[in-house]
Amino acid sequence: MSDEEDEFNRAVSAARDFNPYPGDFLEHEFETYDLLRKHMPVARSESFPPLAPGSEDGKGWVVTRYEDSLDILRNPADFSSEASGYPVRPWIPQAIDPPMHTGYRRILNPLFTAEAMSKLEPQMERYADQLVDEMLQKDSFDFVEDFADPFPTVTFCNLMGFPKEDYEKIMDWKNMFMHADDGHPRGHKLATEKGRSLGQEVDDQGRLSGDGYMAVRGTVGQEIYAYFTELLDRRRKEPQDDLITTLLSAQYQGERPLTQEELEDTMFLLFLAGLDTVASALGLMIQGFAQDAEKRHEFIELMDDPQRVGMAIEELVRFHSIVLLPRRITRELTFKGALFHQEDTVLMPSQAANRDVNAFEDPNVIRYDRVPNRHLGFGMGPHRCLGIHLARKELKIALQVFHRRLPDYGLNPSQPAIGFGGMKGLSSLPLVKG
Ligand code: HEM
Repeated sequence: MSDEEDEFNRAVSAARDFNPYPGDFLEHEFETYDLLRKHMPVARSESFPPLAPGSEDGKGWVVTRYEDSLDILRNPADFSSEASGYPVRPWIPQAIDPPMHTGYRRILNPLFTAEAMSKLEPQMERYADQLVDEMLQKDSFDFVEDFADPFPTVTFCNLMGFPKEDYEKIMDWKNMFMHADDGHPRGHKLATEKGRSLGQEVDDQGRLSGDGYMAVRGTVGQEIYAYFTELLDRRRKEPQDDLITTLLSAQYQGERPLTQEELEDTMFLLFLAGLDTVASALGLMIQGFAQDAEKRHEFIELMDDPQRVGMAIEELVRFHSIVLLPRRITRELTFKGALFHQEDTVLMPSQAANRDVNAFEDPNVIRYDRVPNRHLGFGMGPHRCLGIHLARKELKIALQVFHRRLPDYGLNPSQPAIGFGGMKGLSSLPLVKG
């Protein structure tokens, strides 16, 4: 058998068994995407986890080329964003299609402009400094636990108006809801305990069944919704200078206030999108820097130049993309020769599109001055990331403050980092100084 045939057959197996959710997928992530992109850019997988209770287990499409992903992201009529199982209702705005989606974005966009986010910068700088102070008192530390998790989470909680004392509870909910079964140790432990308390069976390996995990997500989702209901009631009685209060006075299409359901569904999505994303991206970026001192020093050298640092952050987001973009097909159609059925799921890993050599020269190399850099790390089309300015500022400030104080560091050889799959990231990144 020729090498080409052999590679093609490996692509067939990689497609059939494609499941980016468990943590061990990360060991062969980019190799898998390269194989699929070359031999089977629109591939049928039989190994997706079920996306909703009782849904068909394991079937869906995976798209790995940049241009194909872009075509899908720009076509919400055929590729709906209402694509996964929701604990209560589809969340707003991420799981709502145009035209309703446009009305919600009109309310939300002004709250997340670059200018509005700039006002948070002094507070972010102070908090980043404080976290680094505490971290550097130790000889070795866990970057995720000591910095990447608390920094964006507390920033975001302040912006939203989630009380500071609820931080631990919010983190636990987030970990159970998002990381029950993707290799995140704390998320898995908490979800298993929750599953047990719900009467779900736990197998010999300490795992719940697929429906068991769904039951946990459903229950945790409802607990979060109940928390939001109570917070909304409190803000109605006592308005504050925060996002929850602003949402309460928002008008949909200038005609009516948001309903209680709309308010809760929006808060839920902001909660999911705002808490984990920056932490995941930061963890992966610092892990990369710990492994590549040259790239780290190159970054440190440019990080105080306002223009160059902006481009560098963009390139780091491309290189360390974290989001798998899901869509649901709304009608039978042929896409690049493949027959898509109505209700099929399509997954576009931004990690795959962003390493496509037809879209980016030397895609596996970080080039801080890459132009153009129209990566899909923040998505594209109507659902492009609402929090893009907040995310960019958080990443910039975190990387600047951390590297000003600690330009030299490495991975801790006695404690390996722990990664999780799906919307990927790190749950632990032990580092040593020097
Ligand atoms: C490095 C950090 C971040 C990355 C890589 C990221 C990435 C993304 C991506 C790829 C999408 C598109 C999803 C889709 O098309 O289905 C998205 C949407 C979204 N993001 Fe972010 N995000 C980040 C940070 C944030 C933050 C801090 C917030 C806080 C507000 C946020 C809020 C949102 C919202 C609300 C949406 C849905 C937008 C819509 O559907 O119209 N993101 N994000």
